[in-house]
Amino acid sequence: MNARSWKGRDIISIRDFSREDIETVLEQARVIRSDPDALRGRVMASLFFEPSTRTRLSFASAMSRLGGEVIGFSQPEGSSQAKGESFRDTVRTVERYADVIVIRHPLEGSARLAADLVEIPVINAGDGANQHPTQTLLDLFTIEQHHERIDGLQIGMIGDLKYGRTVHSLAIALTPFRDIQLRLISPENLRTPDHILKQLDQSGIIHRETEALDLGDLDVIYMTRIQKERFPDIEEYEKVKGSYVLDRERLADLSDRAIVMHPLPRVDEIDVAVDRLPQAKYFDQVQSGIPVRMALLSLILRRT
Ligand code: NCD
Repeated sequence: MNARSWKGRDIISIRDFSREDIETVLEQARVIRSDPDALRGRVMASLFFEPSTRTRLSFASAMSRLGGEVIGFSQPEGSSQAKGESFRDTVRTVERYADVIVIRHPLEGSARLAADLVEIPVINAGDGANQHPTQTLLDLFTIEQHHERIDGLQIGMIGDLKYGRTVHSLAIALTPFRDIQLRLISPENLRTPDHILKQLDQSGIIHRETEALDLGDLDVIYMTRIQKERFPDIEEYEKVKGSYVLDRERLADLSDRAIVMHPLPRVDEIDVAVDRLPQAKYFDQVQSGIPVRMALLSLILRRT
């Protein structure tokens, strides 16, 4: 996709991204610099119906660094939804105030629905357990910064592979890359959904599911939080919480080339002592959110 066709584009699912599209964003993120004139006068509406620290604030920071403005809410209680307004009316209203909508919502498919309702571009900042495409782009940016490639890597995803939207998006994003080996480590009842496994099969990515926390030979260890808020039954959560913990002892044999990633927030799955290891890259991921989201906003909101 050439630069011009990014203008006005919705970012809903990583499935809509070819390898070339992913590379365009990463390239742009490598070179982008703050520019108070780039998006001067443009308005981003940030609609968060679910909690967020990094995604919401890094989008706001990215927009400000490009000279744009941010409006919105960080919890639905602060919007007219609390008075009974429909999702439909909320997004249609916001369309009249903004040039782009960034939306996070607990329902799968909500970002797609918003995009169908409005003419302005919509960016999915997480729809339930489904997708989180911009997190994936910053994850790939971080991986590439360290390994200088994505092809040929052995990547382990650990934890809640059922409800974790970041791993769903990341697994799919890897399908156009070559010689990827995926190790999917989770408790039996938090395994990767079948539709994603099917897509991995079709793409020819070598993947293996296991319950064992086997980190041997991995280039990327991608840890996740058990998504407590998505469990229909809290007793089920109690059974699996704390399933996997990375601490210094567990990582004692970690090779120099491996990196430890996590989209954050963490609960107890990475001990704070791990933060001091040079391989710990989760705060680098936080940092990557800025150039990657600046790149996306500038591609989508470009004037020409
Ligand atoms: C993730 C999310 O919201 O899906 N957080 C994030 O955006 N960095 C991961 C999580 O909540 O566990």
